Amino acid sequence: MKPKPKSLIVCASGPHRNTRKIAETIATVLDAEVTTPDLIDPARIAEYDLVGFGSGIYMGKHHHQLLSFVASLPNVNSHRAFVFATSGFADSPLNRFSRSLTVPLNSKGFEISDGFSCRAKDTFFPFSPFGGIRKGHPDDADLQRARLFAEQLKTTQKSWNSIGDMQ
Ligand SMILES: Cc1cc2nc3c(=O)[nH]c(=O)nc-3n(C[C@H](O)[C@H](O)[C@H](O)COP(=O)(O)O)c2cc1C
Repeated sequence: MKPKPKSLIVCASGPHRNTRKIAETIATVLDAEVTTPDLIDPARIAEYDLVGFGSGIYMGKHHHQLLSFVASLPNVNSHRAFVFATSGFADSPLNRFSRSLTVPLNSKGFEISDGFSCRAKDTFFPFSPFGGIRKGHPDDADLQRARLFAEQLKTTQKSWNSIGDMQ
C-alpha cells in the first residue's frame, strides 16, 4: 500500500487568528500538521509531500514572518505547495496578494498548484473606530469553502480556484 502523503501547513496569524482558523480547517481535511514560521526548522520542509503557506495580508503582502521564513528555505526539487490568505479586501489583477508568496516559493523550486483566499475581519485604521469591517468572518460559509478547497487539494493537481477572487 502507498504511504499516506505527509502534509504541513505553515501559518502566521495575528490577534484575530483569522488565517489560523482557515489553516486548521484545511488541516483537518488533509490530516496535516499546523505550525508557525518560528516553530519549524526550514530544513524539515523537505520531509513533507505537500506544504501550505498562509497568513493575513498586511500592506498588500503576506505577513513578514512568513515571507522571511520562505526566504530562509533551502531549494527544493518540484515540491508541491499551496498558498492561502485572509484579508479585508479582495486583491486586484494589478496587485495579486499571492505574488508576495508565489514568486519566492517558485524561485525555491516549489510547484504551487492551488490557492485559497477569503475576506476576514479587518480592524486596521480607518476601520478600527467602527469595530472594523467583515465582522464575523471567516464565518461558517468561509470555513466550508476552505473545507471544499482542501478536498480538491486531495484529488486535483491544479485548481487555482480562489486566489484573486473579487467577492
Ligand atoms: C496593519 C494591518 C494592515 C493590513 N493591510 C491590509 C491590506 O493591505 N489589504 C487587506 O485587504 N487587508 C489588510 N489588513 C487586514 C488583514 O489582512 C485581515 O484582518 C486578516 O484577516 C488578518 O489575518 P490574521 O488574523 O490571520 O493575521 C490589514 C490589517 C492590519 C492590522
